[in-house]
Amino acid sequence: MTDQGFSTKAIHAGWDPDPQTGAVNVPIYASSTFAQDGVGGMRDGFEYARTGNPTRRVLEANMAAIEAGTYGRGFSSGMAATDALLRASLRPGDHLVIPNDAYGGTFRLIDKVFSQWGITYSVAPVVDADAVAAAITPNTKLVWIETPTNPLLNVGDIAALADVAHAAGTKLVVDNTFATPYLQQPLTLGADVVLHSTTKYLGGHSDVVGGAIVTDDEQLDADIAFLQNGAGGVPGPFDAYLTMRGIKTLAVRMDRHCDNAEKIVDFFQGHDKIEKVLYPGLADHPGHDAAAKQMSRFGGMISVLVKGGQDAAQEFCARTKVFTLAESLGGIESLIEHPGAMTHASTAGSLLEVPDNLVRLSVGIEDVEDLLADVDQALA
Ligand SMILES: Cc1ncc(COP(=O)(O)O)c(C=O)c1O
Repeated sequence: MTDQGFSTKAIHAGWDPDPQTGAVNVPIYASSTFAQDGVGGMRDGFEYARTGNPTRRVLEANMAAIEAGTYGRGFSSGMAATDALLRASLRPGDHLVIPNDAYGGTFRLIDKVFSQWGITYSVAPVVDADAVAAAITPNTKLVWIETPTNPLLNVGDIAALADVAHAAGTKLVVDNTFATPYLQQPLTLGADVVLHSTTKYLGGHSDVVGGAIVTDDEQLDADIAFLQNGAGGVPGPFDAYLTMRGIKTLAVRMDRHCDNAEKIVDFFQGHDKIEKVLYPGLADHPGHDAAAKQMSRFGGMISVLVKGGQDAAQEFCARTKVFTLAESLGGIESLIEHPGAMTHASTAGSLLEVPDNLVRLSVGIEDVEDLLADVDQALA
């Protein structure tokens, strides 16, 4: 059979109707343990649900398929996935390169927790492959990027950065949370590992927290599976089910997120209260060429610098009515936030500190006329 299209995989990969009951949808296997036919006689490989659960296994197969990878692993959050990937890859004395505008929680974990175990890091702008290359040291084991980044929406050229990482004997990790595999598939561009906060677009309905890792590297996958069982940061079956329910409609939701975001970007462009619009789809965005090469569309996230500094930015966030003032992103409902005081507060005073007049919008799939009217009145 020829390779299937994205939505066919998103809807079907990992599950065929149940041979016994005909159930079209994967059941929520709410069982923490599994009967054995004699000691060591596991049925279908299941013994205890931290090690493996049938609902989670379907999610993991589905994640691997939609990211065009071989192995998928589910976690209880994006941070649990990040933690497992760092622990599987790094030992005391090792070094990694991270973006100069990574998600604040990723930075906090590396800066505050892994530093205690002798892991060091350097920061580099993902838009500049030469700067990333220059940040690599003899002890570097990982080049970790987000693209587009959270919250400045900078774009790294994945193929070029994979070459940089591999030339130095290191691995390239891509946090693909913002783009999703519908818009960009990093493993096909040379990345070694893809990581997700499935809490965001994959779940898509702001009702579940989760994470995932996908790779073609058999040893790395085995090390990650060991940590799933050994450290236990796994999703429950209901979480796995909700995430899959979201993934099935990812393509249609992403197209609507992108349609709506493009119209709101047009509205912000030239608005007299907006100093700058950050969106990879804009021709003058520094990462536009790389984004056009590796993404099928430019996503549903928009960041803007508001004229008038922090107070004006926070006032804008407080005045929207359809856009809810809240952390997180990627759900069907539009959200707005002030990264400096909210999602990225942990970067204050660091090399990753964000501008105080920055506002981040996660554009939902509501009627775009209502979203436009809302940002219009909030800026008035
Ligand atoms: C890009 C990115 N990576 C990772 C995470 C962490 O994911 P979670 O909140 O599911 O732990 C987030 C959360 O906002 C994120 O935006």
